[in-house]
Amino acid sequence: MNEQLESLISGAFAHGAVPDPMTVAVIGAQWGDEGKGKIVDLFAGWAEIVARGTGGANAGHTLKVGGQELVLHLIPSGIHYDAIGVVNVCGSGMVIDPHALIQEMQMLATAGLSYEHLLIAYNATLVLPQHIVLDKVREACAGAGKIGTTGRGIGPAYTDRVTRVGLVMNDLLNPSTFEAKLLRNLDHSRRLLRGYPENVVERVTLEVTGSTKLSSEEIRTEYMAYGQVLKRFIRDTDRYMQRMVGSRKILLEGAQGVLLGINDGTHPYVTSADCSLNGLACGVGLRGQDVDTCLVVAKAFYMTRVGAGPFPTELGGADSEWRCNETGTSRAVEERAFPTASVNSSQEYLQGVGIRQMGGEYGATTGRPRRTGWLDLPLLRFALKRCGKNPLLVLTKLDVLDECEEIQLCTQYLYQGLRYRVGGQEFEAGQVMEEAVMDEPILRGVKPFYSAFPGWCLHTSASKAAGDLPENLINLVQVVHHEVGSVALVSAGPEREQTVLL
Ligand code: IMP
Repeated sequence: MNEQLESLISGAFAHGAVPDPMTVAVIGAQWGDEGKGKIVDLFAGWAEIVARGTGGANAGHTLKVGGQELVLHLIPSGIHYDAIGVVNVCGSGMVIDPHALIQEMQMLATAGLSYEHLLIAYNATLVLPQHIVLDKVREACAGAGKIGTTGRGIGPAYTDRVTRVGLVMNDLLNPSTFEAKLLRNLDHSRRLLRGYPENVVERVTLEVTGSTKLSSEEIRTEYMAYGQVLKRFIRDTDRYMQRMVGSRKILLEGAQGVLLGINDGTHPYVTSADCSLNGLACGVGLRGQDVDTCLVVAKAFYMTRVGAGPFPTELGGADSEWRCNETGTSRAVEERAFPTASVNSSQEYLQGVGIRQMGGEYGATTGRPRRTGWLDLPLLRFALKRCGKNPLLVLTKLDVLDECEEIQLCTQYLYQGLRYRVGGQEFEAGQVMEEAVMDEPILRGVKPFYSAFPGWCLHTSASKAAGDLPENLINLVQVVHHEVGSVALVSAGPEREQTVLL
């Protein structure tokens, strides 16, 4: 690790209650895509072990180092340091599609990067073709109830684990166990698929497997071959992590964001894993209290969401939610449709498109446009409470709004919906809320209170120190610091060097 990086990392830790931590977690504070990949990559230079504990190939972490861009879906972003002995772990709380994993390994090999020290939990859940088929069929038949999943089989794979019909990575190493469990699982999956129109099931199965019917024989042959490739990486990683905690520098890599978590988000518009600190720690065999410091990553001063669900500060409101989820929408389609969109457009929806284009906010996994809106402090206050006892904020993508003349910051909500009860609390129109309540009718019924701030209208991407950042930008960071919690770092570009210690 070079001197500059070393002082950046120790300076960031010095902002927290544990200045010399051994176990650090990186968690997304929003709906994913906060720029966690870059932060994990940066701190991986400090770590001896980098471990992921939740989600699967629904995540997309884009790394940009030395002009090279890599998108990782399953392998932790610390893989860049494999050559110098950093161990990367895919933990037991993950759902792993072995086909996607092997493709990722091939991509690394092509880029000249090693993955010799990769470890894969023997008890991580296996994603099978029927999970992907079920995920896509459900979405195809959901009508207005569509969630906008990534179609990677995440929900059905986690469901099978909970309903006790799932398979694990270790089954790839034991042909007869695999076969028996596969047959039971296929029987279960086929029963579920019978509840959907046959033509849709056949069309989706063809798209996923290349044949209109799920074949146990084909799946067995394919997965046994994956087992041969993955055998040398499959280990008891929970035990390994429990042995290492406290004596090795460990970095835990969160996937998605707290607001998408199964326990914290607004059902049903969530992913199927717990994206909080507890979920992440548990997914690598550790406990929340094993983590000394949590780096909580949030985009600023805008935020994004992919898929359906409430988004109080969304630019363009329901119109945007609908358009971004429309099939066939992509960056190219949008650029043709809105050639004049800009971060300063006076029409809300167009300003949202302008921010999306400026920030390159199109899904790393699906290519879908991400819905855009202003930074929402009530949601951030909620998310921080799920990030342990020592959260440090990292604000990313600041350069995206470099040309924006006026920035809106949502500091509170005014509830305007019908009288509605959440647990012991009654909500009625006119109520002011400091912290978000993660319930769909509440979040759809709130009107954000904004404070307007002048933009900085200067380029920030070359900033090396806090003193280089424009005054208007520093003012805004201080508001967040004051209102929500300690901000340790800001990022104004995808490169490692474009990170500033506060
Ligand atoms: P699933 O995780 O594919 O089941 O999708 C459930 C919801 O989470 C959908 O709204 C997805 O768009 C969203 N989602 C899943 N992974 C990510 C991610 O990495 N970034 C942003 N949104 C995600």
